[in-house]
Amino acid sequence: MFTSSTRAVPDPVRVPRHIAIIMDGNGRWANKRLLPRVAGHRKGVEAVRATVRAAIGHGVEYLTLFAFSSENWRRPADEVTLLMELFARALEQEVAKLHASGIRFRVVGDTSRFDRRIRELVAEGEATTAGNTRLTLTVAANYGGRWDIAQAARAYFRAHPEALADGAALEPEAIEPWLTTAYAPEPDLFIRTGGEQRISNFLLWQLAYTEFYFTDLLWPDFDEAALGAAIESFAARERRFGQTGEQVHGNVA
Ligand code: IPE
Ligand code: IPE
Ligand code: MG
Repeated sequence: MFTSSTRAVPDPVRVPRHIAIIMDGNGRWANKRLLPRVAGHRKGVEAVRATVRAAIGHGVEYLTLFAFSSENWRRPADEVTLLMELFARALEQEVAKLHASGIRFRVVGDTSRFDRRIRELVAEGEATTAGNTRLTLTVAANYGGRWDIAQAARAYFRAHPEALADGAALEPEAIEPWLTTAYAPEPDLFIRTGGEQRISNFLLWQLAYTEFYFTDLLWPDFDEAALGAAIESFAARERRFGQTGEQVHGNVA
């Protein structure tokens, strides 16, 4: 189990071990070209491939991509249907390639709302790639940060019914192992493309001490150079985790 950044100061890293990305701007990319929004989503899959390759090149260990939020069901039904089809096709076509590249594949989110075909492909992909160690690629699908915290609390109380007793203390550390991303360290770097500067109910708990990076690039235009720029920005930052700069530099005990 990885320790919490609010409980202990993690070891400094120059290359983020875990990068979490909100892949935003597919629709605008397509609109600019007078194409249907789905063309942007299709092009977005190519940007995912490029980003995965680039992340491996940098030695990143965990890459977590927001593909569909719990709020995205509010979109027009035909866009939701097309996104589901695209997700199914990507699972069919990409998982074998991920496996061949030594990538462990995971999905986080409430997958119970997806149709059976998608749920089967997810389970298959996770099982096939479970032993791989090169990069853990997590796709967040029907994911919401508040849902994640709520389901973790539910799971904790199911396992520890005595903790429901009046006056029992509930520490943040008790919840953490039940979060859907408990197999990964907390993200070091958060990237959002598309120019918006918000979390949109992504990894609310896990981003407590993550470095944020926003770019106006639309997701289909995101590539190796763009990831490199984000990692460069990360490397130039000083993470203090509540300490003073002097403490971080080792001048003070
Ligand atoms: C992100 O791109 C992909 C999903 C949310 C599925 P958008 O579809 O949100 O693109 P914009 O923000 O409308 O440009
Ligand atoms: C966030 O993007 C979700 C994904 C990228 C999957 P949205 O485009 O849905 O976010 P909002 O609604 O503009 O905040
Ligand atoms: Mg958007």
